[in-house]
Amino acid sequence: PVIVVDYGAQYAQLIARRVREANIYSEIVPHTHTTAQILEKNPAAIILSGGPSSVYAEGAPNVGADLFEAGVPVMGICYGFQAMARALGGTVEKTGLREYGATNATAQGESRSILKGLPAEQNVWMSHGDAVSQAPEGFEVLATTAGAPVAAFADSERKLYGVQWHPEVKHSDYGQRILENFLHNEAGLEPVWTAGNIVEEQVAKIREQIGENGRAICGLSGGVDSAVAAAIVQKAIGDRLTCVFVNHGLLRQDEAEQVERDFVASTGAKLYVANEQERFLSALAGVTDPEEKRKIIGREFIRAFEAAEAAVLNDAAASGEKVGFLVQGTLYPDVVESGGGEGAANIKSHHNVGGLPEDLEFELVEPLRTLFKDEVRAVGAELGLPAEIVQRQPFPGPGLGIRIIGEVTEERLELLRSADAIARAELTAAGLDQEVWQMPVVLLADVRSVGVQGDGRTYGHPIVLRPVSSEDAMTADWSRLPYDLLARISNRITNEVDGVNRVVLDVTSKPPGTIEWE
Ligand code: XMP
Repeated sequence: PVIVVDYGAQYAQLIARRVREANIYSEIVPHTHTTAQILEKNPAAIILSGGPSSVYAEGAPNVGADLFEAGVPVMGICYGFQAMARALGGTVEKTGLREYGATNATAQGESRSILKGLPAEQNVWMSHGDAVSQAPEGFEVLATTAGAPVAAFADSERKLYGVQWHPEVKHSDYGQRILENFLHNEAGLEPVWTAGNIVEEQVAKIREQIGENGRAICGLSGGVDSAVAAAIVQKAIGDRLTCVFVNHGLLRQDEAEQVERDFVASTGAKLYVANEQERFLSALAGVTDPEEKRKIIGREFIRAFEAAEAAVLNDAAASGEKVGFLVQGTLYPDVVESGGGEGAANIKSHHNVGGLPEDLEFELVEPLRTLFKDEVRAVGAELGLPAEIVQRQPFPGPGLGIRIIGEVTEERLELLRSADAIARAELTAAGLDQEVWQMPVVLLADVRSVGVQGDGRTYGHPIVLRPVSSEDAMTADWSRLPYDLLARISNRITNEVDGVNRVVLDVTSKPPGTIEWE
């Protein structure tokens, strides 16, 4: 792998993703890893990430000079660039100047190295205080900026490179080209990390883990991750996998059908469906508090899933089979953020249904554990899953239950499903699915306003449209949808959905608003 050493800023994951986009496998390690620990991973190349601190700050993480003597190509970025310069005997100065945001970088010298094939002037994204004023011996200066006399350097002999700016952010004009120059040309790595190869590799791994006769179970939520995880395991072990879908009745129009019909049709997976709409509706009766709703839905979901699981296990047991594996759609960012621990422990499933032994244990199968979200989508497409599943926007687990402000009833769910289906269809028709991160459609079930429709006065409910743009759902901005699209959605909803006489647009960013209304 290409090892990305994380110096503590938010950039390491972004760098790792960009390396993957260059079709090369990458892994992130914390900067507390010693050189020996890093080399143990047998890195094909190493990238030192940016970080929040000055190399002069107390406790600033260091790079051991021995990392540069291992014969492995290394590229330093921002903080990593400065730490590298310092470790190799260059000069890093406190200039007192801060360079922040877009800056112009001017190329220097003959070889161009990692800047090869790029224009002599480029816009780059900067975020630094200290600056390298003197490159270490043996290095050629590749670029300068107003605030950084040495803004990029290279020692092609030793295959060591660095840039002061952030090539991993989209605001740097040729950032991806620079990373690819480093990875493909300078380090000589083959771009073999493709969806096809990922599938092949994972299938082999899963077969090895589950064995010739092992059986697995997988819960489907209707979301991308569980669908792709299930599809890949299905490819590996065929119908020794059973998928379980608990329909809680809080999905949007056609989503349950997507699982029951399209997922099965495209994967051939064996599916057990538990129709539990009634269970959820009666548990939610009379409840209006959002957190209370979440708790109830979460609790009922576990119960319903365990009941379904018990049925599947009993079924297998009846024919003398044992289900020993549970498939989970854990993604790489979850692994990194939870400390990157290797090999998940066995998890215990608490069974109080169906008379199964209490201490039944599953071994986890996590085929997406090394993947970022965009790779999961690519793998899903490779496996033949339909675009409606693979390109699905994020949707909360509690579903429409937290998009009805007020009590959840079947009638209100029906109404919200119709309004939401119209809004989604129009958004898709306008070609804006990719631009909008997600668009909750919310029913204000306890609010009524006066309207006039046909020749009568109405007293109906408002529907709120909440389209947002976001990178990661941590922050978001409201999407500036075209007025004519908003007009179409509004006309259609008020005309076609009985009980709705007003459509309003949420124009709040996050913060202060959250994306969902509950
Ligand atoms: P908020 O509303 O907190 O949402 O800005 C951030 C992201 O999380 C999703 N979300 C949830 N997802 N269970 C989930 O699985 C939940 O209870 C839940 N609440 C919010 C939301 O759709 C958005 O993508």
